[in-house]
Amino acid sequence: MKNISINIDKVAIFASKSCIYAYENKVKACSDMLEKGNGKGNDFLGWLHLPASINNIQFAEIEASAKLLRQKCEVVIVAGIGGSYLGAKAIIEALSNSFQHLQKEQTNPTILFAGNNISEDYLSELSDLLTTKQFGIINISKSGTTTETALAFRLLKTQLENQVGKAEAQQRIIAITDKSKGALRTLATQEGYKTFVIPDNVGGRFSVLTPVGLLPIAVAGYNIRELVKGAVDMEKACGKNIPFADNPAAIYAATRNELYKQGKKIEILVNYHPKLHFVSEWWKQLFGESEGKDNKGIFPAAVDFTTDLHSMGQWIQEGERIIFETVISIANPNKRVLIPSDKDNLDGLNFLAGKRVDEVNKMAELGTQIAHVDGGVPNIKIELPELNEYYLGQLLYFFEIACGISGYLLEVNPFDQPGVEAYKKNMFALLEKPGFEAETKAIKTRL
Ligand code: PA5
Repeated sequence: MKNISINIDKVAIFASKSCIYAYENKVKACSDMLEKGNGKGNDFLGWLHLPASINNIQFAEIEASAKLLRQKCEVVIVAGIGGSYLGAKAIIEALSNSFQHLQKEQTNPTILFAGNNISEDYLSELSDLLTTKQFGIINISKSGTTTETALAFRLLKTQLENQVGKAEAQQRIIAITDKSKGALRTLATQEGYKTFVIPDNVGGRFSVLTPVGLLPIAVAGYNIRELVKGAVDMEKACGKNIPFADNPAAIYAATRNELYKQGKKIEILVNYHPKLHFVSEWWKQLFGESEGKDNKGIFPAAVDFTTDLHSMGQWIQEGERIIFETVISIANPNKRVLIPSDKDNLDGLNFLAGKRVDEVNKMAELGTQIAHVDGGVPNIKIELPELNEYYLGQLLYFFEIACGISGYLLEVNPFDQPGVEAYKKNMFALLEKPGFEAETKAIKTRL
């Protein structure tokens, strides 16, 4: 089985190979810190050897719960925010037919997401849709107190109980949360919900290979064992005995840190298949929350090409030269479409007749890479042989381990996120939450 690969040839004119290979010892020190658990945030390293630790009993338990929801529900709502939904959404979208929801024959339940915004319109429209559906809920919150998620769950739980009765609703709700503490754990115990545990030492954005990601992905009908197998194999490919030049995560971490040092403050993750859009969203959270602190950090942005070449393409080609691109390229798409010949050829496309659409996409990719490099944008390429569970599992772990190394290279704690509390504190003060009286008083003087 092949592995995903990284190519930094198109970085060379901005940062030489020797300059990047000079990171070897620093990267090794960062990898050692992860391995020995003696770096910053070392109480959140549970993700490091997680894939290989998942045993048959754990897989079977997740698959059994997935089967139950699949039997009972046409729609399953995953309530969660940040790390408690992005991984599942990324993998489900990447593997799903782009028009799955509109297909007549539904072999899998539709997975919808809630609890990741506070939009009244969204919640109302979701509620309207569910009125005529057999639905279930996977409620995911490590802390159990996240407002967005708790609010959506309160509404969904009430609706489900009204539609099918309390006893049946209890069968269709699964909670994924801390093993012993938090409001969701208390609620789940009180209501008798089936639960799965988010390990203490795994932070939200590193939790996709725990039940947080695996259960929704299994409910959607995808092979979680293959996904995890990919991650296990990538763990080996990035292992401590792999030489720097052969370790894709080491190369990626070193390259992006060198580019950052040279003033490339924004990394744009690029895809050429719109179903990878949420892989980029997951990646943005992973790197953004891990590195953006202490007034440091590469800003993670993302575009879907060729779509965004017609909007952001101008900026990327000629705007301020503070960016670099990391392209996720799929070597062989799963489908095959040949371009037909047309007798009138009014659109002038007959020169492409008989070619695969992907050949055009690949030339757009190559042409864009050359243009952007010419325009001063360094280009890293990550290639997946195919888009399937196995290679997505590799990709997830590749980014996780690269993120850990990269954060340590930057000398930040890659495993905390103190900055996300600021908005919550203000929101609670403005909503006059009990316990926030002093904050309420203070913030009101500023309005
Ligand atoms: O990465 C993180 O820790 C956050 O994005 C959390 O995943 C997010 O805030 C949701 O938290 P919780 O699972 O506690 O509801």
